[in-house]
Amino acid sequence: MHTTIATTANTQHFIDLEEKYGAHNYHPLPVVLEKGEGVFVWDVDGKRYYDFLSGYSAVNQGHCHPKIVAALTAQAQQLTLTSRAFHSNQLGVYEKFITSYFGYDKVLPMNTGVEAVETALKLSRKWGYEVKKVAENEAVIVVCEGNFHGRTTGVVAFSSDPTAKTNFGPFTSGYMAIPNNDLLALEKAFQNTNVVAFMFEPIQGEAGVVVPDDGYYQGIRNLCNEYNVLMVADEIQTGLARTGRMLCCDHENVRPDVLILGKALSGGILPVSAVLADDAIMMTIKPGEHGSTYGGNPLACAVAIKALEVLKEENMAANAEAMGELLRKGIKELNSPFIAVVRGKGLLNAIVIQHSNREAAWDLCLALKENGLLAKPTHGDKIRFAPPLLINQQQVMECVEIIGESLKVLG
Ligand SMILES: Cc1ncc(COP(=O)(O)O)c(C=O)c1O
Repeated sequence: MHTTIATTANTQHFIDLEEKYGAHNYHPLPVVLEKGEGVFVWDVDGKRYYDFLSGYSAVNQGHCHPKIVAALTAQAQQLTLTSRAFHSNQLGVYEKFITSYFGYDKVLPMNTGVEAVETALKLSRKWGYEVKKVAENEAVIVVCEGNFHGRTTGVVAFSSDPTAKTNFGPFTSGYMAIPNNDLLALEKAFQNTNVVAFMFEPIQGEAGVVVPDDGYYQGIRNLCNEYNVLMVADEIQTGLARTGRMLCCDHENVRPDVLILGKALSGGILPVSAVLADDAIMMTIKPGEHGSTYGGNPLACAVAIKALEVLKEENMAANAEAMGELLRKGIKELNSPFIAVVRGKGLLNAIVIQHSNREAAWDLCLALKENGLLAKPTHGDKIRFAPPLLINQQQVMECVEIIGESLKVLG
């Protein structure tokens, strides 16, 4: 059982509603938010917090970015949904914009992250059968242990997390898991000529911001070229300036064959995801073979264009790089005996807590909340620190102070 803290009657009222009427598929911190602006959110009692989760890296551009909200409201008054049965005057414009932004021939628009992952998996298999000529139903997709790619039955099939899988089977086959950050294991897996794709997170976010060795992305690229396997990068959490580059693979100037984006593609405004690839891959999918009612809707298109523009206009990748360094340095200089590791790239960071109390990370998050900073533990002893990318130097220093102060709760 997690430690609980006293809440106001107002806060408790909203928590009780969720508890009574909502499925218990999450365990949130006891805070009820009602407003957001930039790096800050406010609770229903008017208390202000730094948001150090950013909706799991969906709110890279900051809460309620005025330019993205303006694009949303303007388009909402024109046309919001056509389905793909008809064309819209937004879709093609968005498709041209995003493909030239990332340098791919084509995009396939979806909504949530996991839908884009499913799309990339289907696309990889289709390419495997029709281009690589793998025998029917024999395609294998290689993934990493410790992965997190979403929650559908298709995707949890290759999760190594028992909480994600237990009692949700039977699962689809055709996946092979290898250790993360292990090029030797990857090359060994590629000896199977039925392997069509390697799907990976450039940094495993949910696993606790696990940063691989330098050269890993280049190594993957080389092996994929050598063995005619698609390099499929799930940049849903690492992409869109979060790690200090537009894409995390850009740190090694590596271009994946299939790029999966989501989360910050809308700046946290609505679910927008996408899969990008060149024609040789994307054109294997024909009308009727894949789609989504809301995928590529005009509202999403207008919002995504603005969300991508804002990232560049406001130099968010460079700021993430600089502020990330400052944050990690500041936390290390706290010299806390309770922080075993500080790691990350750009503003995707985590600390690993060492403490005799197994609930220490949760307790620290409660203390952080009391002191005005919201963060959430992942996998027990790790806490992700991923503020919106427009955070400035003075704010980072204030947050380091809050973290230092909060650590006192651990002893
Ligand atoms: C790397 C990665 N892939 C996929 C997903 C799933 O995205 P969604 O929750 O929008 O389905 C996530 C979500 O955290 C993620 O971090």
